[in-house]
Amino acid sequence: MEYKAKIVSVDDNRLNLLLIESMLESMNVSIASFTDPKTALKYIRENPADIILTDYMMPVMDGVTFIKHVREADSDIPVVMVTAVDDDDNVKIAALQAGAYDFLYKPLKLYEFQVRIKNLLNMRKNQLLLKDRAALLQSEVFAATKQIEQREFESLSIIGRASEYKDMETGNHIKRVAHYCRELAKDLGLDDEYIRTLFYSAPLHDIGKIGIPDNILLKPSRLTDAEFVIMQQHTVIGHGILIEADGKYLKMGAEIAISHHERWDGGGYPGKLSGEDIPLSGRIVAISDVFDALMSKRPYKDKWSIGETIAYIQNNSGKMFDPALTDSFNRLHDVFQDILKSYDDSQE
Ligand SMILES: [Fe+2]
Ligand SMILES: [Fe+2]
Repeated sequence: MEYKAKIVSVDDNRLNLLLIESMLESMNVSIASFTDPKTALKYIRENPADIILTDYMMPVMDGVTFIKHVREADSDIPVVMVTAVDDDDNVKIAALQAGAYDFLYKPLKLYEFQVRIKNLLNMRKNQLLLKDRAALLQSEVFAATKQIEQREFESLSIIGRASEYKDMETGNHIKRVAHYCRELAKDLGLDDEYIRTLFYSAPLHDIGKIGIPDNILLKPSRLTDAEFVIMQQHTVIGHGILIEADGKYLKMGAEIAISHHERWDGGGYPGKLSGEDIPLSGRIVAISDVFDALMSKRPYKDKWSIGETIAYIQNNSGKMFDPALTDSFNRLHDVFQDILKSYDDSQE
């Protein structure tokens, strides 16, 4: 069905309205006529219109005031003021300032009137097409951005999985660590952007293990001192893999890789950093990683009880861990246990 343009016509004189209606009769438009500008405004607010024709001299509200109200509701609908030739120029200027597009002069001449309306309708059509195009482009850009973001997360989780592939830690371990980290960051009141970045980069903490020889990485018994020195290199290797990256997730991943085995008291590795010299992301991953390791069964150790784990973390407040984070952990260990249950290793 062909689109029928809608014209709203306002004049306190009913005869003028009838004249306009008859002049538009041969054109493919629908017309809503009003003698009262207030009723017309109410109609315009509720019904889309393509052109508005308004008289200037009206008892309840003059044409300029009417146009101002129309502009409050719709910023670009074409409005034409129908006015007497000898009307004051100031009125015309005021009408243009209020947002009138054009003037028509009484008495209206049929042919000129129809041509002007036709031109305005064309302009309106292009206006709407442009708007549609802009909206379409915007939604396309939005969808494309979402897709890129999803791909980025996909790549991140694949990199994370690759690192754990030959490790004895499980895929659920890195998922759980990401969730603990998010809870801790929320408890610290960090901003959403940081929390989100941390959530997606925490799984990269042990990516450097892909550079550790299997006989050390997979050794089921205690490492010798020499082996442990090599094992510690996973922090530096991980950092080296990620440091060239430009993206915020990989950048934070690099920071976490090199700092998640540092200790608050300076006794960690590889940098022997202490206190707030250790990046916050690394401190958050450190406590999350240890919690999960203690609560999991490993070839060389049994699962600890939650009581033993809480006690261990408390005893290490200010030693291994940032005291602010052990405080957060105290508030959160129920939540941590829920996370542990929802990503249970037996479901792997
Ligand atoms: Fe590690
Ligand atoms: Fe880990």
